[in-house]
Amino acid sequence: MSNTIDNLLHETRRFPPNSEFTAQAIAKPELYAEASANRLGFWADQARELVHWHKPFTRTLDWTNPPFAKWFDDGELNVAYNCLDRHVLAGNGNRVALHWEGEPGDSRSITYAELTAEVKRAANLLTSLGIRAGDRVAIYLPMIPEAVIAMLAVARIGAVHSVVFGGFSAESLRSRIDDADAKLVITADGGWRKGKVSPLKPAVDAALATGETNVGHVLVVKRGDNPVEWTEGRDLWWHEEIAQVDADHTAKAFDAEHPLFILYTSGTTGKPKGILHTSGGYLTQAAFTHKNVFDLHPETDVYWCTADVGWITGHSYLVYGPLANGATQVMYEGTPDAPHPGRWWEIIEKYKVSIFYTAPTAIRSFMKLGRQIPQGFDLSSLRLLGSVGEPINPEAWMWYREVIGGNTAPIVDTWWQTETGAIMISALPGITATKPGSAQVPLPGISIDVLDESGGHVGHGNGGLLVVSEPWPSMLRGIWGDPQRFQETYWDKFGDKYFAGDGARLDEDGEIWLLGRVDDVMNVSGHRLSTAEIESALVAHPLTAEAAVVGAADETTGQAVVAFVIIKESQRDAASRDDIAAILRAHVAEQIGAIARPRQVFVVNELPKTRSGKIMRRLLQDIAEGREIGDTTTLADASVMQIIQDKLN
Ligand code: PRX
Repeated sequence: MSNTIDNLLHETRRFPPNSEFTAQAIAKPELYAEASANRLGFWADQARELVHWHKPFTRTLDWTNPPFAKWFDDGELNVAYNCLDRHVLAGNGNRVALHWEGEPGDSRSITYAELTAEVKRAANLLTSLGIRAGDRVAIYLPMIPEAVIAMLAVARIGAVHSVVFGGFSAESLRSRIDDADAKLVITADGGWRKGKVSPLKPAVDAALATGETNVGHVLVVKRGDNPVEWTEGRDLWWHEEIAQVDADHTAKAFDAEHPLFILYTSGTTGKPKGILHTSGGYLTQAAFTHKNVFDLHPETDVYWCTADVGWITGHSYLVYGPLANGATQVMYEGTPDAPHPGRWWEIIEKYKVSIFYTAPTAIRSFMKLGRQIPQGFDLSSLRLLGSVGEPINPEAWMWYREVIGGNTAPIVDTWWQTETGAIMISALPGITATKPGSAQVPLPGISIDVLDESGGHVGHGNGGLLVVSEPWPSMLRGIWGDPQRFQETYWDKFGDKYFAGDGARLDEDGEIWLLGRVDDVMNVSGHRLSTAEIESALVAHPLTAEAAVVGAADETTGQAVVAFVIIKESQRDAASRDDIAAILRAHVAEQIGAIARPRQVFVVNELPKTRSGKIMRRLLQDIAEGREIGDTTTLADASVMQIIQDKLN
């Protein structure tokens, strides 16, 4: 890693914007000057320009009780109205909002007028089921238009959505339903993935099978046409119910700080955190960044963000940012390789996608398959490329630029998190000379710093911890139900500065390179996973006595989950090492979801621990990455590493 870091710091390639792009660019260099002259005034201007306020705000930021920020807090708005009705009222009702592409090839284009009409009905349906402002609704859907419709309908009536990624297990779904105390679950019979229907309803049934919940109804969208079990009185078909409700719905205004959604993300302990976002500030920054970072010309661009709605990228850059800006976008249900490995490029050709936003892990998978696959399609419509979720290595960056972007489309590498709500660090296309592998510069109005452990600024050429040093509009407002954890996780380390949990370096130009997490959080294919959460799933299995999980470098997925387990004395002869590994891998997938399935499970007799009993994951990581083992002097028993290695060889 340190070798790579040194190389990064000597990156000399620069790609200045071409004059043609700059001439038409949405982002103007003055944004930086305006924001640094008057940061709050800048955000107030953005909020007024990009958002429709039912009642205008007069206060921009209240930071009198840090870390609990309030932005635009005496203003009122309706987030869904901002994403829908106002575009229709402005005469853009016939513009396509979503070009939805199903995996098997069925498709549906939905205009803003149609989307507005569908959301109005869905809002009435939710109300008829007793959902009121402030109530929580869990959404567990595949990538189908109803996912967007459901989120906007919940927002429209001032309820709070908690979208749970469709790949999560019944257990994960249940813990999220419980934590947020959801009253309603919206799901589907199934969705298309990798050439077949993957059922979703059974996980909801299993999640609700035992114990008390406040879930009164399960609304089921018909998509997969697969058979489902039915609980009379609880389960309702979406299409049947929606046909019976009123088409008219007037959006009511809510306070700017009214909760919009909770989204669970992995932290350093076993229990996922419910990150809370509110309305006015979130929408302002989602819209501002979407417009400026992606150079959005809503009348002509076709934008495609490949993220699932179950992640923050899907929330901010598939739902709220693009729809607030009146963009036309593509939404794709399935996997990139179904039914053939050129599926994504075929979609770009079909819809003439001009702005494309995806993750490095996808780019690296395509690199492996070879450039001849994308080269078989017409990608000339692409004029801007984005990257998100993990550091993009310079090699992948160059491939993205050359093979996908035809050597001309600027690349924006966007750093942000579930907690930040919207992009924080990125080049601005048409302004910034881009640099392969670096996320580069904070956006206008965003204050970023890289600090050493004691809170001092690191100089150019040095590494440290990434912080956000001033509150920002789309910042998380807390962890659902756990203000203390909110304080401890993000704010205790550096006082009133937000500690992101990422390592970063400033290069010789003062530009930012993200170096990955500094805590026990892994990043697998751009998805956040907690070592502690996977460890607790492993020890919940009757075979396991102890477990330690590390994120090991992986060529395609960035990091991969590697587990070291000690088997209970009584179970040692229960199965072969290979069988145990297979059983435990499957067990983790079942407990958490397939994304958490370990790449490898090593059965060992000992784990390296310090005298105070803390597992030294660093040493296990050395083994997992095939490196020479580092300093073992703080181990309680230095011979342990030898024992582990002997066992593995
Ligand atoms: O480590 C950083 C990495 O992803 C983490 C946030 O994960 P999540 O909340 O799931 O949100 C992902 C999508 C915004 C960060 O702490 N990360 C995200 N974007 C980048 C990144 N690392 C390097 N470069 C990026 N562009």
